[in-house]
Amino acid sequence: MKPKIFVTRKLPEETMKLLKEHCDVKIWEQEDLPVPREVLIEEIQEIDGLYCLLTEAIDKEVIDRAKKLKVISNMAVGYNNIDIESATKQGIAVTNTPGVLTETTADLTFSLLMSVARRIVDADCFLRNGNWKTWSPMLLTGQDIHGATLGIIGLGRIGEALAKRAQGFNMKILYHNRTRKYAVEERLNIHYVELEALLRESDFVCILTPYTEETKNLIDEEELSLMKESAILINSSRGGIVNEEALYKALLDQKIWGAGLDVFEEEPVSLESPLLSLPNVVVTPHIGSASIQTRHLMAQLAAENLIGVLNGKSSNHIVNEADLKFNSNK
Ligand code: GLV
Ligand code: GLV
Repeated sequence: MKPKIFVTRKLPEETMKLLKEHCDVKIWEQEDLPVPREVLIEEIQEIDGLYCLLTEAIDKEVIDRAKKLKVISNMAVGYNNIDIESATKQGIAVTNTPGVLTETTADLTFSLLMSVARRIVDADCFLRNGNWKTWSPMLLTGQDIHGATLGIIGLGRIGEALAKRAQGFNMKILYHNRTRKYAVEERLNIHYVELEALLRESDFVCILTPYTEETKNLIDEEELSLMKESAILINSSRGGIVNEEALYKALLDQKIWGAGLDVFEEEPVSLESPLLSLPNVVVTPHIGSASIQTRHLMAQLAAENLIGVLNGKSSNHIVNEADLKFNSNK
């Protein structure tokens, strides 16, 4: 008998085909919205595998309902939507989709950076609203990108890919990371600094660290106050790493120059959020990895991860692999 799985959203056709070859598939596809929690809690009781998105909170209450669940496959590289500790305790593998979205997410991060620096969205609105009367010396002037200093907080795969883009713009590149990466420093000619120095010296601060207890509100009032008045903050990782209220104040009081945000504390962000009232903020709806090619690759990889675990194969993408092993040896 094929293992039973539940898929929380409609997926590309080739991914559905792959899943159906190996599994007995049930899917939430009434609408392109997250599966209601009560449906998830019901479905999880009977399944061997769960294929989910970052929009689903797979917390202890949900996980504890599972009776024979072996794997939770998240179609994302980030997995802060899943209670890993609870999953590990129940012997459930959690998988993610690293690697395939690295370059695409670095592209989006750099485009946000450029959009804010050169006021692309602001300028687009200006023109469409009929405000373009003449070429003017200081009209819609922004910040230079070439030759500026880029500070990367969190030097993982995406951070490295961002550094490569910045090199093409002759940027000086600083980074801060939990562990120092000497080989990468040498290879990419980038410099490790403490967070405080990074904030003080950078013209662009890009956040690419995962969301954890440690990185919650990592960028708060005090950190923002260290930044240059001409500096731009970009967050394409997870909301909650930046304190939005503090960011709004810093932007309003012109303590920093602008911000580009692809992620928010609450998603979707409320249209009432004061951040959306500021012209020097460019916002996008969590589309870091959203290229057609990459979303297909992510969907497929998440399916392969799920099938792999159900077939008893070890996978490179089990995020709690070490702890699972430890538990099963006890
Ligand atoms: C998207 O945010 C992801 O984590 O893949
Ligand atoms: C601007 O268009 C210039 O020619 O300097």
